[in-house]
Amino acid sequence: MSKNRQYRLAHRPVGAAKETDWDLVTELVPNPSDGEFVVQIQHLSLDPAMRGWMNAGRSYVPPVEIGAVMRAYGTGAVVASRHPDFPVGELVTGEFGVQEYALSDGHGVRHIDRRLQVPASAYLGVLGLTGLTAYFGLLDVGQFQAGQTVVVTGAAGAVGSTVGQIAKLHGGRVIGIAGGTDKCRYLVDELGFDAAIDYKTENIRQALRTHAPEGADVFFDNVGGDILDDGLLRLAHGARVVICGAVSQYNSQTGAHGPRNYLALLIARARMEGFVVNDYEDRFGEASEALAQWLADGRLINVEDIDHDSILAFPETLTQLFAGKNTGKLILDLGSAP
Ligand SMILES: NC(=O)c1ccc[n+]([C@@H]2O[C@H](COP(=O)([O-])OP(=O)(O)OC[C@H]3O[C@@H](n4cnc5c(N)ncnc54)[C@H](OP(=O)(O)O)[C@@H]3O)[C@@H](O)[C@H]2O)c1
Repeated sequence: MSKNRQYRLAHRPVGAAKETDWDLVTELVPNPSDGEFVVQIQHLSLDPAMRGWMNAGRSYVPPVEIGAVMRAYGTGAVVASRHPDFPVGELVTGEFGVQEYALSDGHGVRHIDRRLQVPASAYLGVLGLTGLTAYFGLLDVGQFQAGQTVVVTGAAGAVGSTVGQIAKLHGGRVIGIAGGTDKCRYLVDELGFDAAIDYKTENIRQALRTHAPEGADVFFDNVGGDILDDGLLRLAHGARVVICGAVSQYNSQTGAHGPRNYLALLIARARMEGFVVNDYEDRFGEASEALAQWLADGRLINVEDIDHDSILAFPETLTQLFAGKNTGKLILDLGSAP
């Protein structure tokens, strides 16, 4: 009988999550009952939101309870099944948790379409919540139109790199803000961004004046904090500020630092709006079709950063997101390829 190693939440972290916030537990792999199946997980998705899920209190999803398996999206193969729609050998993606095997009744689980001939990991990137977040955040919340200027923060990350590419393929002018010269060069040279600003070495306000003299029509923010504040000072008339996330604030011990420059919204007659991708669930089909088509046409690159290791690497890999070590979607490959 195989063993299932899993990470359970031991403590609510103070500041950044650390190794001692987790319990590594080993259990027997469960047997499926009628209507259930077991997935052997191959890819674990690492998401900045995981840090928020570890906190107590009200949010857009319930917190992970102390003692519970850590919430995580993943991909894997069905290895035992008593569910007619998920036979053994099927590749699937869903919210399987930080563990090696997951028991599922199929709720929220998607089939991976082998006909698309893309690696399963793409279902955590542009074909998964990452792509959907970029799509709805830019086109729906951001109301982006061809010819407009988009400034995107966290631009070399999973969502940011997808936002910039979608804006480019719709005829936008795109300026990315990211940490480091390598990331900035990648955005311009490989992904076709019009300009990239290295927030670690450049003066953001000055650089935005240069690259977006008329201001941003869409300011797509993944980062929050001072970078959001700088962006607010360079909005075009009627701009939309999309609050997708605030990764710079997730480890704060004193609460999120809100925008000081919010009166810029008044001056620019702009609006600022947050969103959660899950609210668009009834339109996921439409977006998934478009994203798969752009990927197949080569107009969209699935940027991913895969660590090949065991589940024991999970605590350390999570910290990479907050140190900016990833380019594109950060994934831990548990080495269980079917
Ligand atoms: N609203 C929704 O429904 C939804 C859904 C998915 C994700 N999100 C949000 O979208 C954002 C991006 O998520 P993702 O999965 O694409 O992660 P990601 O951008 O791939 O990874 C995080 C990146 O954030 C940057 N970063 C980390 N700490 C920073 C800091 N203090 N200041 C500035 N930049 C910092 C790092 O890049 P640098 O090297 O550039 O610093 C890092 O690579 C997150 O805020 C996430 O919570 C929202």
